[in-house]
Amino acid sequence: MHCVRKIADDIHWVGGSDRRIALFENIFPLTRGVSYNSYLVSDEKTVLVDTVDHAISREFIENILYVLDGRKLDYVIVNHMEPDHCSVIGELILRYPEICVVGNSKTFQMIGQFFPGLEYSRHEVKEGDTLSTGRHTFSFVMAPMVHWPEAMVTFDSTEGILFSADAFGTFGALDGTIFADEVNFDRDWLDEARRYYTNIVGKYGIQVQALLKKASALDIKMICPLHGPVWRENLGYILDKYDKWSRYEAEEKGVMIVYASMYGNTENMANVLACALAGKGVKNIRVYDISGTDVSTLISESFKYSNIVLASPTYNGAVYPLMENYLADMKALSVQNRTVAVMDNGTWAAVAGKQMANKLAEMKNMTVIEKTVSAKSAMLDSQLDDINALADEIISTMK
Ligand code: FEO
Repeated sequence: MHCVRKIADDIHWVGGSDRRIALFENIFPLTRGVSYNSYLVSDEKTVLVDTVDHAISREFIENILYVLDGRKLDYVIVNHMEPDHCSVIGELILRYPEICVVGNSKTFQMIGQFFPGLEYSRHEVKEGDTLSTGRHTFSFVMAPMVHWPEAMVTFDSTEGILFSADAFGTFGALDGTIFADEVNFDRDWLDEARRYYTNIVGKYGIQVQALLKKASALDIKMICPLHGPVWRENLGYILDKYDKWSRYEAEEKGVMIVYASMYGNTENMANVLACALAGKGVKNIRVYDISGTDVSTLISESFKYSNIVLASPTYNGAVYPLMENYLADMKALSVQNRTVAVMDNGTWAAVAGKQMANKLAEMKNMTVIEKTVSAKSAMLDSQLDDINALADEIISTMK
């Protein structure tokens, strides 16, 4: 049966959620599924804004048929060509052969790549173009690299709705409550929104800033992303998060300690430092075992906190592999503007600290604290002064 929600007089959410999916993009673990949002505008002409992943195509088609109620589908606006939103386009064109696909030149290039040989009618738009469908007028705003080169967003100036593609999206299935004001977003969704943003779009802060600048010129009353809740209240909350994340500014003063530890000795260093920081008054501390934490969560937390501490044993004459992977991901996703301290451990030749510092130096605007603590197999009581001195230095950078 259909499962839709009305979001404005003549606009329905016709998307759905996939709670069976384990890995988004076959890489990011999902514990609460993900939604694929699509919106159907029943104007003089009918307009579908984006489609969904094939995983929910059956429900999606039922939703469209229900809302159309026998009408034909005139347009589908394709804001983003990643297959989690466009894999049903072929099916849609088969069902509605007269449909006109609205996209930019890169959209059509990608449709040709994903659906070789597909024939369809098209309406190519560029920055600032408008499309009137009766009561509604849509304008098109290019948003390259948010998150792919062809990405664009569509503004319905009649209702003040920004169909924002991947921007302002989040992991997590929708539980009937599709508006951000129907859930406790800060408590239940923010961490997943941050993990989504930082891992999917985090690398493209400059491009997100460019989109935010364009969006600031629009009278936006509602934001309809392709994943997660729709924003119709308190838009400043999510706009502010996006502004911070895309400027790589920490959300909170706090220390995130990430350790790798084979037998508990490097873990002990992390714990002793955490206690030293707490004893000196730092309240916002999170300690992560890299072996039990997905790197996407570490990236998300790296965007959240002002200070990072990395502790790693030396392994094969290098940094512990999972720590190496995290550092590579930090660089790939352009984590920057953080103050980082390193600690290491080595039973015969500790080199992990130096190598981690070198990798951090390759990233933008990373301040690496010179003071470090190095253990030889296990930390000694005599090194407590070093830990305290490191804690003092970290705290001094947080003022
Ligand atoms: Fe949800 Fe970039 O696709």
